Amino acid sequence: MEKQSQREVKKEQWKEMAKVWASYLPPAKPSKNEIKFWEKELKKLPIKKGISFKALVLGSTPEFRDLLSKYKVDTTFVDINSDSARAMTSLLKLPKNPREKFVLSDWLHMPFAKNSFDLVLSDSAQDNIKYSEFKPFFKNIFSILKPKGLWFFGAVNVKKKDLLTFEQYINLYKKSPKIFKDQRNYWLNFFRLCYNSEFYDKKTKTYNFKKVNNKIKELIKDGVLPKKAIKDIGFGLDYQQVLISEQDFKKIIKKYFEVDDEYQDKSHLAMKIKWTAILKPKK
Ligand SMILES: C[S@@+](CC[C@H](N)C(=O)[O-])C[C@H]1O[C@@H](n2cnc3c(N)ncnc32)[C@H](O)[C@@H]1O
Repeated sequence: MEKQSQREVKKEQWKEMAKVWASYLPPAKPSKNEIKFWEKELKKLPIKKGISFKALVLGSTPEFRDLLSKYKVDTTFVDINSDSARAMTSLLKLPKNPREKFVLSDWLHMPFAKNSFDLVLSDSAQDNIKYSEFKPFFKNIFSILKPKGLWFFGAVNVKKKDLLTFEQYINLYKKSPKIFKDQRNYWLNFFRLCYNSEFYDKKTKTYNFKKVNNKIKELIKDGVLPKKAIKDIGFGLDYQQVLISEQDFKKIIKKYFEVDDEYQDKSHLAMKIKWTAILKPKK
């Protein structure tokens, strides 16, 4: 029962999330350069008409779906929340892919047979599931990918050397609030706080955005920060996400996947907190 109510709360969060998705900039979603990279890689695959080729998108990411639509790839996108899927569909830039279908499902219990897909695409999907479920999640994707299949994989990845203390974060804002007006800088710096013990639960590997908000609110109450700081450097939703490093990902996936290639978008400093890789199942 408790589990079910937690899932409902999550659903509400995603409705809100979908509304603001359009205003989000990378690294919160795939960047234009990342999509260009994926396009280049996609074109190397046998996606031409007449050949069976099946792609699976984890979530409703409009950027991936537009890319697959451009080449009319047989696509299935899977999302646990139909409202979110509908909202994301409204954000597609290209006409809807006639070869696309939606499956309402949890990524941990997808109704697909072994070796069903040639390609899986996901951007920060695993951030939304419990860390304790990472192993079954990766095992599941391994299982539904064909032996020669690939996974276009994106994850937030903050390196230890880039971390900020809360004090450094606040000082950065006080010194130059303008920096945070560029949303990409905001994401970069907000994520640079992630592994602070006040905000990060080491057991569940979860970064709690609300705890950052609470500390900002305290500083506003004490007159240290202006009222607008909560909008400038806080996060509007009660949200948590699972975050681990690239090294930890590599350790977890080792049993099932090898890294075939990696890509770093250098168009903006904020992209340094992304790990973008092509994963190949060890089959
Ligand atoms: C921030 S996105 C992350 C995934 C991807 N980047 C996307 O754009 O869809 C969150 C989306 O993933 C969906 N989602 C979250 N947890 C899920 C799960 N366990 N199974 C299936 N979909 C899930 C949400 O409903 C939402 O549409």
